[in-house]
Amino acid sequence: MATLLDALRPVRSLRVAIAMPLLLLSGALATGCRATPARTLMPTTRPLVIAHRGASAHRPEHTLAAYTLAVQMGADFIEPDLVSTKDGVLVARHENEIGGTTDVADKFPSRRTRKVVDGDTIQGWFTEDFTLAELRTLRARERLPFRSHAYDGQYGIPTFDDVLALADSLGRARGRVVGVYPETKHPTYHRAIGLPLEPTLLASLTARGMNRANAPVFIQSFELANLKALRGQTSVRLIYLLDRGALTPERLREIATFANGIGVNTRMLVGADSSAVPTTIVQDAHAAGLLVHVWTLRPEPMFLPKRYRGDALAEVREMIALGVDGIFGDDPFLVAEGTGRIRR
Ligand code: G3P
Ligand code: CA
Repeated sequence: MATLLDALRPVRSLRVAIAMPLLLLSGALATGCRATPARTLMPTTRPLVIAHRGASAHRPEHTLAAYTLAVQMGADFIEPDLVSTKDGVLVARHENEIGGTTDVADKFPSRRTRKVVDGDTIQGWFTEDFTLAELRTLRARERLPFRSHAYDGQYGIPTFDDVLALADSLGRARGRVVGVYPETKHPTYHRAIGLPLEPTLLASLTARGMNRANAPVFIQSFELANLKALRGQTSVRLIYLLDRGALTPERLREIATFANGIGVNTRMLVGADSSAVPTTIVQDAHAAGLLVHVWTLRPEPMFLPKRYRGDALAEVREMIALGVDGIFGDDPFLVAEGTGRIRR
């Protein structure tokens, strides 16, 4: 039988507005319950709901508020992209340039500079030029103009350790595991400037007993050499990120020698045209023993290929039908709904 929310299907923001209080209430009730022991094994749900930069469609990305909301929305994993501070602390930011996601321009106007990062010349403010104490004075801002700016100025920049602690706390309160899915951003660049990401990342995981194969952790990177080096240093599951191109069965078997899975752009699985035929990447990757996680599903129609006719749930459902093992979404609520875990 059609529900009220089914009738509101084209109006996602309204649907979320109605359902959100229920989710928040359930979260509050769970948080109010006696804390349970931490569950520290990899979740077995499939596909995994992976909160891309937190619930970044609803809160400024890479903030504890964005991660908390993501878990309330049903995310299995929260994703911090990682860059380094001047004093070698890992913080959650998509880029080491933070002019677009914080108020750094207001607070440190004279610290603007120009750098070449992975071949790109960039002007702005860079995390590696600031101590953690300085970065702690900043407040996050929404990156995209068409998303809500109601939360600008409210949240700080979390460290990776903050994110690990939050995941543990949220998991204990809710009686389920909350995984963490860190991405090393510009690892070669960071190593070249004397701030390698990997030792600190692994030390943080080790300190929490999470530097092991069955921990609820995936480490992801676009850099092949970075992942291959990590394979020799940790048994944590590794995901090789790919943005484009074909993947032959032979190439996938080679990737399986150092990674546990691939994280691919949605368009590598099925093109944007309405007549697009899905590739065989999912089946071929599974045959090679690789997991397949896909990114990034977003709720706004502007991000959707026309084939979905403005229905973001249709994209989630198509990815699920293709057999993926995990879905990165800016709106974890949308992804969880597509999996059928949230029914209204
Ligand atoms: O990590 C998966 C996806 O997040 C890769 O894209 O640029 O959002 O980090 P990006
Ligand atoms: Ca990422």
